[in-house]
Amino acid sequence: MPVPLFDLSRLGPRVDEAVKEAALRVLGHRGYVLGAEVEGFENDLAAYLGGGHAVGMSSGTDAQLALLMAMGIGEGDAVISTPYTFFATAGCIHRTGAEILFCDIDPATFMMDPESLRSLLASLKRGPEGFLLSPKGNRLRLIVPIHLFGALCDMDGLGAVAAEYGVEILEDAAQSLGAEYASKEGVKKAGLIAPTSYVSFYPSKNLGAAGDAGVALCLDAEMAEKLRRVRNHGMEQRYYHKVVGGNFRIDAIQAAVLRAKLPFLDGWNATRRANAATYREAFTAAGLLDRVTLPAEPHLASGLKNHHIYHQYVIRVPKRDAVMAHLVEKKIGCAIYYPVPLHLQECFAYLGHKPGDFPVSEQAALKSLALPIFPGLRGEEIQEVVGGIKSALD
Ligand SMILES: Cc1ncc(COP(=O)(O)O)c(C=O)c1O
Repeated sequence: MPVPLFDLSRLGPRVDEAVKEAALRVLGHRGYVLGAEVEGFENDLAAYLGGGHAVGMSSGTDAQLALLMAMGIGEGDAVISTPYTFFATAGCIHRTGAEILFCDIDPATFMMDPESLRSLLASLKRGPEGFLLSPKGNRLRLIVPIHLFGALCDMDGLGAVAAEYGVEILEDAAQSLGAEYASKEGVKKAGLIAPTSYVSFYPSKNLGAAGDAGVALCLDAEMAEKLRRVRNHGMEQRYYHKVVGGNFRIDAIQAAVLRAKLPFLDGWNATRRANAATYREAFTAAGLLDRVTLPAEPHLASGLKNHHIYHQYVIRVPKRDAVMAHLVEKKIGCAIYYPVPLHLQECFAYLGHKPGDFPVSEQAALKSLALPIFPGLRGEEIQEVVGGIKSALD
């Protein structure tokens, strides 16, 4: 039985109708750029998150770039992130002119590890003004941990290390909208744990647009004003440019579609979690747990329902490429997120890294395999996926 990796049509006719109605409404009133549709979505999203400010952007990538620009990050600065993730995070840091410093990940969770962060920060020297400097002499301004695959980083752990060294955190919540974290200050939703954050609404995300879209999130009203300026060429008054920005505006159609889909998000996330539980049962029943490592659930003990929202279901498996080839032959959807860690990407060769520099990220890139997890995936399809992996490994 073929199994798709992802199938948007499984969201069903109710969602299709809501999306069409929203898009047609915008086509009807022709208010395509900013305005009430965008503000409506931004307000609904902030209410869903329980506070803060949401500034709709043309993509998750542009949301991050706008945040970095609003913070004034550029040449002479350095920003820390991880090498095992989607390219955008490091790409944006590079585009501002800042230096990228990589920090390796935790082998169980795939995310920034507070201890690796601590040893990286401890290795940096302080300049005469008291700021931490990269080995190239750039001022460390920011740390960007990534909540990968729908799980959440150890934000209290990372926050404590960052505070000890006086550096701020910008949270990449591109893949984690709806996830909840039991911080030492109380329960927070991904996107509002650190002072600034961004989310992607790429169509395959848990909350996906009908095209590209994203949002920048922040706790501070002044930062939100800066972000609104930056997304619109640095303008407040038309044709008067306070700062240099870009065209990072979210389309009104996308905002309307996202606003229509937002009420479904918690239900979809619950379905993804139920699919993960079915995988666990199926892998256990198949006797594969000695060979296959299932995704970690680092915050299960918090007791929060949305401790993980399973944007992706990424296992680690021996002979990964052979297993993948076997699944592909059986028309079972699967993918490698991500095959080449960022420190070894051709475009970052100028950073001078070599294989072995970030061994945990390199191992993750060699062993990980993403399986279907989307809402609407059927129990018998999960059995088929697990059966396919068993026949490849036995
Ligand atoms: C971790 C991460 N960061 C950033 C982005 C960039 O978002 P977008 O594709 O909306 O530009 C993505 C999107 O796939 C992502 O997964």
